Order: sequence, then C-alpha cells, then structure tokens
Amino acid sequence: MIKLKPYFLYFLVLPAISSCVSGQLGKNNSGEFRNGMVVTAHPEASKVGLEILKKGGNAVDAAVAVQFALAVVYPNAGNIGGGGFMVYRSKDGEIASLDFREKAPRKASRDMYLDASGNPIEDKSLYGHLAAGVPGSVAGMVEAHQKYGKLKWAEVVQPAINLARNGFAITERQARELTGYQKEFSKYNPGKQYFIKSSYAAGENVVQEDLAKTLELIRDNGRAGFYEGPVAEFIASEMVSGGGLISKEDLKNYRAIWRTPVSGTYKGYKVITMPPPSSGGIALLQLLKMVEPYPLKRWGFNQDSSVQVMVEAERRVYADRASYLGDPDFYTVPQAQLLKTEYSLSRMRDLNWNRATLSSEVKAGEFGYAESDQTTHFSIVDRDGNAVAITTTLNGSYGSKVFVKGAGFLLNNEMDDFSVKPGAPNMYGLVGGEANAIAPNKRMLSCMTPTIVEKDGNLFMVVGTPGGSTIITSVFQTIVNVIDFDKSMQSAVNAKKFHHQWLPDEVRYEKGGLDSLVKVKLQQKGYKLVEGGNIGRVDAILKTKWGYQGGADPRGDDVAVGW
Ligand code: DON
Repeated sequence: MIKLKPYFLYFLVLPAISSCVSGQLGKNNSGEFRNGMVVTAHPEASKVGLEILKKGGNAVDAAVAVQFALAVVYPNAGNIGGGGFMVYRSKDGEIASLDFREKAPRKASRDMYLDASGNPIEDKSLYGHLAAGVPGSVAGMVEAHQKYGKLKWAEVVQPAINLARNGFAITERQARELTGYQKEFSKYNPGKQYFIKSSYAAGENVVQEDLAKTLELIRDNGRAGFYEGPVAEFIASEMVSGGGLISKEDLKNYRAIWRTPVSGTYKGYKVITMPPPSSGGIALLQLLKMVEPYPLKRWGFNQDSSVQVMVEAERRVYADRASYLGDPDFYTVPQAQLLKTEYSLSRMRDLNWNRATLSSEVKAGEFGYAESDQTTHFSIVDRDGNAVAITTTLNGSYGSKVFVKGAGFLLNNEMDDFSVKPGAPNMYGLVGGEANAIAPNKRMLSCMTPTIVEKDGNLFMVVGTPGGSTIITSVFQTIVNVIDFDKSMQSAVNAKKFHHQWLPDEVRYEKGGLDSLVKVKLQQKGYKLVEGGNIGRVDAILKTKWGYQGGADPRGDDVAVGW
C-alpha cells in the first residue's frame, strides 16, 4: 500500500519571497564582492558569518559560527541535534570532506520500525524519540575547527550564545511555521517547555535560555560539552522518558569522519563533492557525465530535449542509488564502477527520443562487482579564497519534534533516511534495500550534496541545497544552469527546477517551470508531469573575474552578504 508521505507536502508548503544581497565594503562596480561572501538560510546567520570573516576568521571559522547560529535562529533545520556534511577547498586547492552524519544508536535493529507482519508502522521512524539518530553536528564543528580554524573556538561559538540569550527577531515565515507546529510540539514534549505559544508574530524576539547554557558548555568544553556531562545526561534522560534508544555510550563514542571527497569533470570543470554516506556526490557526478555529450546549450534552458535528457539521466541515477548506496563502513559501495565514465554513458544508451522510458524498464545498472521539511545549506568564501560548503539537517522540519528537556534543542528524525524495509518509500518517496538497511552504529544514506566546482584549477562555485530527494537534482541543475545556460549565480538559483527520482515514475516541476509547448511535447512522449511547489533552496557563490556573486534562494528567507 502506498502511503501519503510528508514528502508530498514538502512541495506545497514553501511559498516564495525575495532574497537580497547586502553588504557595503568591497562591493565593486559589477555588484560583486571582492573580500568574501556568506550565503545562508537566515539573515542573522549570514550576519554572524560575515562578522567572523571581517574580524579575520577564515571560511571554516565562519562556517562553524554559522552552523551554531543557525541552531539558534533556524531551529527547523539548523541544529546541534542533527548532522551534516562539509566539503572544503583551501585557497591552494587542498580538498577535504567531513562526515558528521548522525548514526543509528547501538540498540537500533534492522526491523525496529516494522509491525509483526513485517510492514512499516506509520510515522514510527519519523516522529518522537525513536526517530532520532546520534547527533553529529557538534563533533563535526569541533573537528573542522581543530583542523582548519584560525580564531579561538570560544570566539566562533559566542555569537550563537548571544543570539540565544538576547533573542532574535523571527521572520514572517518563521512566525507562520512555529505557529503551525504547535500541535506536534505539544504532542512530543509533554512538559511543554520550548516554543509553546498560541501564536507567533513576525519580528517577535525569541529568547532560548537553556540553549544558551548548552552552547556555553560547548564553548567551554568542546565536544565533551555536548557528548559528555550535563548535556549528555539531558539527552539520555530524554530518551528514557520518551522510549528512545540513544545512550550516553552512543554519545561518547560518536566521531565525525574525514573522508576523501569524490570528484569528476564536467565540460572542463572539476566538481568536488561529498562521498558516501551521502549518495549525493556520486549521483551528481553520474548525472553530469550522462548529460555531458548532449548540446544542452543549443537546446536551451527547460526546453523539451534538455528536460528529457536530464530526466532520463535522473531516472537511471536514482535507480542506482536505491541499490548501491549506503554507509561505506557497513556496505561495500561500488564507487569506482559507478563513477566510470563508460558506465554512465552506457546507462543512457537505451534512451528513446520518441517516448519516455518507463521506470519499470529501468533497474540499477549492472557491472562486474569487482570491489568486494528539513535541511539547510550554506556556502562561504573568505578573503583568501578558502571555500566551505556545508549542508546540515534534522531531516524533517523540526526533526523528531522532540526537544531535549533542560538542554533546549531539537533532536533529528534521521532514522527515516534508512530503508526501514526493502522497497518501502521513506518520507521523500525514496526506496532502498540491503545497502541502506538499519544496523547498530551505521550511518543512514543521505542525498545532501555540498559541492565545490573548480575551473582551470581555481575556485569557481560553492553550491548546495536542502530538499530531501530533490537535493541532487537541484544541485545538478544549478551547475548546468551556470555552465550550459550562462545564467548568473542568482538566476541559476532562481530558475525553476524539475525532478525525477526513478520511483514514483513522474516528473515533478515547479509551477511555471515548463511552458505549455514543452509540456505538450513531453506528455506526447509519455512523461507524466506533476506540477508542485518549490524544489530546493539553493545557497551558492560564483567566482567571476570581478569578485564573488551570491545566489540566495528566494524560495526562503535566504540572504547573501559580502564585503
Ligand atoms: O540527508 C538527507 O538526504 C535528508 N535527511 C535531507 C532532508 C532534507 O533535505 C529536508 N529538507 N528540506
């Protein structure tokens, strides 16, 4: 039976407002900024990042400060109770990627969300204490800062403490969302300590005293301030009171992991992106390789042939994702095979221009198996040209909806990103199997795709987005919009996106994204087109010969600031 998942709502609930690019110093005649740029989902977080850059911090210092600031001012996705990925490129071209993804608690088990007949129990992996994985964000920030930070740890954590203690003005969108989530907050937080109020108003000052204290412990004790001591106690008691699985031992053992980024080329550009346990990097590189031979530029932006070839590539790549991608520490991901140019090209050989391929005709590719509503992205470049792309998440909007009593922050519901049963869709409609089955201490597969693109050995673009399953296609289309369709960073971000993920077998597109003639041509070939709400919320930076251009997504409150 197919359930209506929150995934479908995601496309309906994100109204558009306009973003802006602000900042005075260093703005040159082309409207671009020479000394650095910060693009995030919230004006206050962008401001924090810019202040850190201006006081001499580098891109990693600013990123750490932004991650903590977002945990305060953007609680539906910014977090210390979730996880994420960072892709880094230094001014000299050194690259690194950091995995601070949540992991399954030690007591998790393969069938923990199934009933006696082996069927998924509705919402069990999505809401409440049992939905939460062991958080990774604080360990990630500590690792990133120890390796690359320049300013003192306390200096980069402090701005978030100030925002939590003194408060910040919520945006109109936030007032609407916080008001809308009251029922869930009450249901999953019996003590009703945080964010409980009959209604919120735009501009209202929100203070989070317990969160300020938690952040102070992190400021003063680093990772031990979260994974041990009072905060670990609060998390463990929260789990006991709500029937969750995360233990003090799970917290103490959590480690962020440096992984080798995956990279590939596209039309002479080098694309550096996140390896597993994200599926996003491999999928992005496959998508680019699959469409590389086609004259997208000549066909034009969102014209029938370009949409068709991109959709057919997406269909095939998501089929591969469902079979082959999972936590590489638990499952041998056939990374080298998936990334072979010849393999990607061969996947497109059965493309039929006269009719849509059916997803039932597409299976994951075969090769000699030789080798045994909510996330947020931010992009930062500093004065020296060091670049950071971070995508971080609680999974759904406000995660599991469970606040850690006493510590003042929300826990993720990332366990739903596992394949709870082979073939059963998760909240984004994604299916999977063995590669992404639940196991103790395993990381759940992700679509998050923080990415950095180089041109001629120099920094070219920093890009990423939230959007669940649509993350990969949004990053893909943003890159193609700049490289093939000559769009500026902002218009590449603004441009309407479309999405195919193998199953369900349909092309979703943003309202107004495809003109009538294109729609008729695609429908005649058998494509099922479904108009929906927003796809992605891309925050990106483009380096031009004049400076840095920001692309802050108008689908959210996102703001690009530079100097
Ligand atoms: O890691 C993932 O792929 C998902 N947990 C991301 C969720 C997401 O992007 C929700 N955003 N709007």
